[in-house]
Amino acid sequence: MALGIRRHISLSDLTTLRMGGEAACELTVRGETDFDELSDFLMRETVRPFVIGKGSNLLAAGDVSDLALVRIESPASPEQVGRDGEAVIFRAGAGLRLPALLGWAFKSGLTGMEGLSGIPGTVGGAVAMNAGSYGIDMAQVVRRVRVWTPTEGVEWIDSADCSWGYRSFCPGRISRFMIHEVEFGLTESTPEKVKAAMNATMDKKKAGQPIAAWTAGCVFKNPEGHSAGRLLDQAGFKGREHGGCRFSPMHANFLENTGEGTAREAVELIEAAREEVAKRFEVKLETEVIII
Ligand code: EPU
Repeated sequence: MALGIRRHISLSDLTTLRMGGEAACELTVRGETDFDELSDFLMRETVRPFVIGKGSNLLAAGDVSDLALVRIESPASPEQVGRDGEAVIFRAGAGLRLPALLGWAFKSGLTGMEGLSGIPGTVGGAVAMNAGSYGIDMAQVVRRVRVWTPTEGVEWIDSADCSWGYRSFCPGRISRFMIHEVEFGLTESTPEKVKAAMNATMDKKKAGQPIAAWTAGCVFKNPEGHSAGRLLDQAGFKGREHGGCRFSPMHANFLENTGEGTAREAVELIEAAREEVAKRFEVKLETEVIII
């Protein structure tokens, strides 16, 4: 394997919000041995590494010209590796799309992840932010995570040794890491039952979230005891437009690019909403979307 290197990469092509300038390069890790080459590259060039995933939780707002986007290339399908009591254990590469993982779970008749239906992005990205919906998050189904760090190389870390929180993840005490593979445990059911539960999740999502629009998912985390969507709605931001951006008329916590939106407009709208909610309700909203 050899590290893939492409120069001058537009972030608007690689993010679901379709915004952002040109990054210095994109580095594709095709196998574990490429991490050594990646490490050498990062020492040689003055770039900031950033694992891009599918760019579905990302707002590229600042100067990204020194950014090295890292892409993990993974096999197209997960692989069953064993059993642990009732649980079927399988592995997926960090670069596999989460919807593809769910499709495999459906075909294999494995239950436990149906609530995650409709979440875009990669397996690695979903772990890195402990993505979740409808009562299930990655923390509940992940058994081990294979991470790379410049100091330790590649190693498995048990889920119990990781810190999992609401939309947060950290493998032990390591703060700078890249996820390469993830091991899951799910229980056996039937494809029909799994499909029905996935369809029910998708129906709920379609009814309440703008899943076809250009968004990066929810903009703000839900503050303790509150719903960010409800606070934004009550503060008058549902459907509020600013240039080519708006808070969705369907769900106030989704910021949409309606076609020609810029990252600057997105940031201005986010800050205006944050200020108004703080003023009216004395609640500080924290972004869930990663702003770089
Ligand atoms: N609400 C409003 N106005 C709105 C939007 C919501 O009044 O414009 C109210 C709803 O009526 C409801 C409450 O706010 O009473 C909560 O809304 P919802 O059920 O849509 O859930 P949420 O808290 O906004 C969370 C996650 C979603 C996840 C859904 C379903 C966060 C920030 N959001 O949304 O996750 O899909 O629950 O489980 O945790 C994401 O993380 O990107 C995301 C979309």
